Amino acid sequence: MPRQIRFNAFMMNCVGHLAPGQWTAPADDSVGYLDTRYWVELAKVLEEGFFDGLFLGDVTGIYDVYGDSPAAALRTAAQVPMNDPVPLIPLMAHATKHLGFGVTVSVAYEAPYLLARRFTTLDQLSRGRVAWNVVTSYLQSGALSLGQTELRAHDERYDRADEFLEVCYKLWEGSWQEGALRRDAERGIYADPARVRKITHKGRYFESEGIFQCEPSPQRTPLLFQAGGSTRGTAFAAKHAECIFLGAPTRNGLRKSAQSIRTALTEAGRAPDSALLFAMLTVIVDETAERAQARYAAYQARASYEGALALLSGWTGIDLSRYRPDDTLAYVDTDAGQSALASFSKLDPERVWTVRDAVEFVTIGGRGAVVVGDAAQVADELQALVEETDIDGFNLAWVESPRTFHDIVQYLVPELQRRGAYKTEYAEGTLREKLFGNGAYLQAPHVGASYR
Ligand SMILES: Cc1cc2nc3c(=O)[nH]c(=O)nc-3n(C[C@H](O)[C@H](O)[C@H](O)COP(=O)(O)O)c2cc1C
Repeated sequence: MPRQIRFNAFMMNCVGHLAPGQWTAPADDSVGYLDTRYWVELAKVLEEGFFDGLFLGDVTGIYDVYGDSPAAALRTAAQVPMNDPVPLIPLMAHATKHLGFGVTVSVAYEAPYLLARRFTTLDQLSRGRVAWNVVTSYLQSGALSLGQTELRAHDERYDRADEFLEVCYKLWEGSWQEGALRRDAERGIYADPARVRKITHKGRYFESEGIFQCEPSPQRTPLLFQAGGSTRGTAFAAKHAECIFLGAPTRNGLRKSAQSIRTALTEAGRAPDSALLFAMLTVIVDETAERAQARYAAYQARASYEGALALLSGWTGIDLSRYRPDDTLAYVDTDAGQSALASFSKLDPERVWTVRDAVEFVTIGGRGAVVVGDAAQVADELQALVEETDIDGFNLAWVESPRTFHDIVQYLVPELQRRGAYKTEYAEGTLREKLFGNGAYLQAPHVGASYR
């Protein structure tokens, strides 16, 4: 039996996510992000194509590292303007039955209690289909906008995130015991006070005392995603994540990243396959290979180099306006994200990247590879990728929205299904049950289960 391939759609609540410049195309409808219909229609298409989830990235702040100015990002709509992704989830959940909804929320700027309450609400309104992508934020502009004098140091952000999650686990898993919820109309008892405990947390970064004000949601803790790729980020992901995003531009880099995550999971006391790995990827598929290649050529012609410079400078914390296009990218530690720069420098020693190479690569699909062809060609490549790199699926970025996803559902999904490499129906239950089939809640040895 061929390896099963999973798909997530990688979205953001904005015009230009990972393909700056493409919003100008006549067939692109991404300016529709301001319209509820755009999201509802997209969610329905993805569910028709048996995607596991629609994943909403988010970033706090503006990409103003390039040229020390937000001008390039604003001109090219490089992840600005951007709206809050959370309100989109209930409306898409209402229109679908099985599709999961992942959303990025940063731990940098709010108290664990408020975030925990919001996710419990989302999990309830989606009937257990919500996932949280835990991020620590990498933009200095975000820190300044939120009243901090500077971005916290890279590794410390993860230390603090560890404690943030500890508080959340206490609230989600530890406050309401099983059976606390009675809803006994005859006796007039909604909840049993003897089974609702107050939590006490006095840590280095956070304090919280009291009972959690929300009744437990179907998954209690939402399904946990993570995407940190630095040494500290990988350790954090291996401790907490159930699904992990990879962003590596080459196959070799992807294989190495997947290997280091599987090793880190073992070191964290978990099975190496206890987390599903999703690689960032862009698929351009059409009825014929020629048509797909022609579209790719048109996308390349329309791509915004300036927008990609703004994005890559923000991800790496390096102002690329100070480099010449032919300069080679070398790895340096910064306090922004570390894996973005690593993926274009030290991750794959077989590949040397100039600034121009990396920026051109980023113009379509960010740090993920681009696969172009007819359905059979793309399916061959995706199957080879999962076999050779030991990943579980793809976080699919778009070039034109929603067209990229329509094409995938129309051409690629049936081809993968014919090959027995893609599901033909959803499993029942919460998102965690659909993906792992092992109960709606976190299970030992996951650290979160020990708080229940
Ligand atoms: C597929 C993918 C999706 C990501 N989505 C987000 C996101 O939505 N918001 C965010 O702030 N960071 C996002 N990141 C960045 C990571 O969370 C992390 O900040 C970044 O990789 C830097 O961490 P590191 O230094 O540990 O590598 C994403 C990374 C990848 C590979």
